[in-house]
Amino acid sequence: MEFVHLLLRYLHLLGFAAVFGGWLTSWLSGKFNINAAMLYGIATQLATGIVLYGIVAADGDADHAKLGVKFLLALMLAVMIAIPWWKKRERVAAGHFWATGGLIAVTAAVAVFWT
Ligand code: HEM
Repeated sequence: MEFVHLLLRYLHLLGFAAVFGGWLTSWLSGKFNINAAMLYGIATQLATGIVLYGIVAADGDADHAKLGVKFLLALMLAVMIAIPWWKKRERVAAGHFWATGGLIAVTAAVAVFWT
């Protein structure tokens, strides 16, 4: 179980790299679009995060308030990323773009600073 836990945490960090790296690439290239790295990254975050939640809860040390907030933030991000992707938007509105990056940063901050 310990190895599965560590593997999922590792994949969770790679998912974070993908979603945030995808957003940074979009910003720095001036495209302001939603790209595949963001889509697969947020899908990875939700999938690995939910299983991690189960493992941490089974061990008896889950912070349900923190993980509930993280889940809602990730769900909002999934909608904000998936819809423009499916509609094949060339770029998204500035507010949408900055809110997406901001929410990714806030979700990671909740993970790290909410102890
Ligand atoms: C954009 C979405 C997400 C981001 C950026 C993110 C980021 C992170 C980061 C950076 C960590 C490591 C924190 C540390 O070790 O100090 C972490 C851990 C964790 N995340 Fe997420 N996360 C996201 C979504 C989710 C979701 C949807 C869930 C499920 C409710 C979740 C559940 C967890 C759990 C349970 C851990 C602790 C893992 C452990 O102790 O082994 N995450 N997350």
